[in-house]
Amino acid sequence: MEIKKVGVIGLGIMGSGIAQISAEAGYVTFGLEINLEYLNKGMKTIEDSLNRGVAKGKYERSYRDEVMGRLKGTTDIKELKDCDLIIEAIVENLGLKRELFGKLDAICKRETIFATNTSSFSIAELASYTTRPEKFVGMHFFNPAQVMKLLEIVQSIVVSKESIDAVYRFARSIKKEPILVKDYHGFVVNILLAPYFVEAVRLLEQGIAGVSDIDQAMKLGCGYPMGPFTLLDMAGLDTLASALDTLYEAYKDKKYAAPLLMKKMVQLGYLGRKTGKGFYDYSKNPPEPTNLNI
Ligand code: 3HC
Repeated sequence: MEIKKVGVIGLGIMGSGIAQISAEAGYVTFGLEINLEYLNKGMKTIEDSLNRGVAKGKYERSYRDEVMGRLKGTTDIKELKDCDLIIEAIVENLGLKRELFGKLDAICKRETIFATNTSSFSIAELASYTTRPEKFVGMHFFNPAQVMKLLEIVQSIVVSKESIDAVYRFARSIKKEPILVKDYHGFVVNILLAPYFVEAVRLLEQGIAGVSDIDQAMKLGCGYPMGPFTLLDMAGLDTLASALDTLYEAYKDKKYAAPLLMKKMVQLGYLGRKTGKGFYDYSKNPPEPTNLNI
């Protein structure tokens, strides 16, 4: 099947990036949010990102305007009924995802492929919330979605070859390098990345080294583009803590157990860049490690 119209649900950090690259690739793209405040915020994030490209001389204003013209922000789920592909990028909450996919299943045409950007839930479980599990695929993007080339395409035990092929073609058209992975909580990247985050926070909790030294260690010692704390702050501590909880729940292995420090920071709203404070304090320029009594 040919994908022409795309819906992206949730215009947070990941959803706004996904909607942007979909519209940039020429797809009419509907961006759905739960209220006008979040919708305006998400659309502004996309516009700001495109404006940065204009300021850097990567493209003309007319390009930005064309892309924005293909983006239709809405708070009305019914506007997505004719989409050929819908990518869900809402918070990692099973109850909310169940409610959302139930509604979408009732509203969307039978041909619509549903995809989820979940980083840790089982695709089979999410697919079971619909009456079309053979058209339900995992599409796991990486932050920042506009930049990172990888896309994990996750195959449940019942998904059809046609759906996987269509999503593959879509991935290539938005300039991603897809890899095919089985429906295994955490897929490939987060299975490797989760213990890395956990161990970094444990090193900090135990006073082995400080935030910026641990970051420096992985940048200069291993050539990583950013250290674990900068990455945790960029991805969002709440998102990563709930991904860790899901992995721990699935495998009961303490290498995935979210450290207490991370949980406390989430409780206090120290979620990273998006709230201005996480392991670093972004009110300082350049950001400095947050003063925490550990
Ligand atoms: N949004 C959009 N574009 C961004 C961006 C953002 N948040 N951050 C950087 N960019 C763009 C810049 O505009 C620039 O584009 P250009 O080359 O066309 O001008 C390009 O990326 C490079 O940016 P910078 O020169 O400012 O900075 P860096 O060279 O340090 O690159 C980075 C920034 C790409 C974020 C790099 O530091 C990096 O690769 N970091 C690691 C990211 C990573 O590991 N992501 C995976 C997270 S895990 C995940 O997402 C899974 C989930 O389930 C948790």
